[in-house]
Amino acid sequence: MSVPRPAAVIVLAAGEGTRMKSRTPKILHELCGRALVDHVLVAARGLDPERLIIVIGHERERVQAHLAGTSPDAQAVVQVEQKGTGHAVRTALEAAGVIDGTVLVTYGDTPLLRTETLAALLERHDEDGNAVTVLTAEVPDPYGYGRIVRDASGAVLEIVEEKDADPAQRAIKEMNSGVYAFDGRLLADAVKRVSASNAQGEEYLTDVLSILREDGHRVGAHIAADYVEVEGVNDRVQLAFARKVLNARLLEAHMRAGVTVVDPAGTWVDVDVILEADVVIHPGTQLHGCTTVAMGAEIGPASTLTDTIVGEGALVRNAVCVDAVIGPEALVGPYAYLRPGTVLARKAKAGTYVEMKNAQVGEGAKVPHLSYVGDATIGAGANIGASAIFVNYDGVNKHHTTVGESAFVGCDTMLVAPVTIGDGAYTAAGSVIDTDVPPGAIGVARGRQRNIEGWVARRRAGTRSAEAALRAAEAGKQQGSQT
Ligand code: UD1
Ligand code: MG
Repeated sequence: MSVPRPAAVIVLAAGEGTRMKSRTPKILHELCGRALVDHVLVAARGLDPERLIIVIGHERERVQAHLAGTSPDAQAVVQVEQKGTGHAVRTALEAAGVIDGTVLVTYGDTPLLRTETLAALLERHDEDGNAVTVLTAEVPDPYGYGRIVRDASGAVLEIVEEKDADPAQRAIKEMNSGVYAFDGRLLADAVKRVSASNAQGEEYLTDVLSILREDGHRVGAHIAADYVEVEGVNDRVQLAFARKVLNARLLEAHMRAGVTVVDPAGTWVDVDVILEADVVIHPGTQLHGCTTVAMGAEIGPASTLTDTIVGEGALVRNAVCVDAVIGPEALVGPYAYLRPGTVLARKAKAGTYVEMKNAQVGEGAKVPHLSYVGDATIGAGANIGASAIFVNYDGVNKHHTTVGESAFVGCDTMLVAPVTIGDGAYTAAGSVIDTDVPPGAIGVARGRQRNIEGWVARRRAGTRSAEAALRAAEAGKQQGSQT
């Protein structure tokens, strides 16, 4: 059957999250490239609700600013004082007005909850014609959670909080996930009748169940297939656990779609990463943000790519790449750092100990060893010798260097920008080039070498060098006599 569309999803996210011990509000902590609260909103959006409401309180300016960027479709309702989950829902409904139809309530700190699980809850709620259906789970250790109290026939009677439970109730393993489907009109009425006379002096949303049941309405539960999904993030240990679970889930989907992940435990991907079939990910690799890797490319080992686009068949080894574009069959690393604005065309190379920034490298052009390439355009087929440096910064401003097609920049050349090396031009090794080199010319800018014969024998007499020189001189004589 098709999933009934909820009239509203209300996300409770006003709490402080003290156990994170953080300056960042809990729900804004990052998990696989997305804030905790955004995971929840994405899952909720999958149900296509007519309205998306989020209750915020703690650090509301910061949370509101974040939501304005990621979720302009969500209506933020401020709960000034956090007087309990029942109070939070009451506050939301007072702001939202009458909601006819199904209202789904969930929390901002349960990032593992999938749309499919919420949909299953909605289906059960609809099929059974319930006034409220609570999502529950059987957990090995239910400590701290509200417990689901059922009668002998298995019908749900009430939810009792840990602090209000008697020993028999505490032994119950079925916990309240805090996610519910409600009839909107019945919820609005019942939530006004919730009292705060309990161990914590809070208005418990859980009390709505007993209130509706006592009113003669149908109350039900849906047991989640996987309890891990409903576990919230309250501290950094749980955050790390959630990251592990979500990462494994993402990698499994990639592997099933044809990606080879050599070491899933040592590979980390964000939710928005796109990997095509036959991509190979080697151990110790992290793919962040909107990184996209095309068919057959190999990434890793030990590479971290953020918002980087990798073309078909490229190889990226031991590299850190941020906001870079790596063309098809391009080669990067080992030990390369590609910074924002680096664009490698097809078959271009940024080799060992090479750093690039704001650099366009043409098709088949090579920067194989020990170079810094900043603010540059390198033509197709050009070769940049080992240890060449693009001197882009004069201490105040950055300047551009252009290297022409099939140009050859000698080893250890300093290209002092702004400067242009023409098509097919050369620079001599060790040159400091601060003047344009015309196409086809060679730029030579270095001191002429002079050799001072016998210097070591005179000035370093008795050293190992002097002895070696002496031996060479004798051997040289023989060589000389032979030729
Ligand atoms: C709640 C449930 C408990 C359930 C558990 C699951 C109640 C009374 N208890 O307990 O049965 O097992 O969740 O995790 O509902 N919030 C607000 N405003 C408030 C209070 C809370 O927005 O005034 C938000 C919090 O930010 C959080 C969520 O509601 O996201 C749950 O609040 P929390 O205080 O963690 O409830 P628990 O005591 O864990
Ligand atoms: Mg909690």
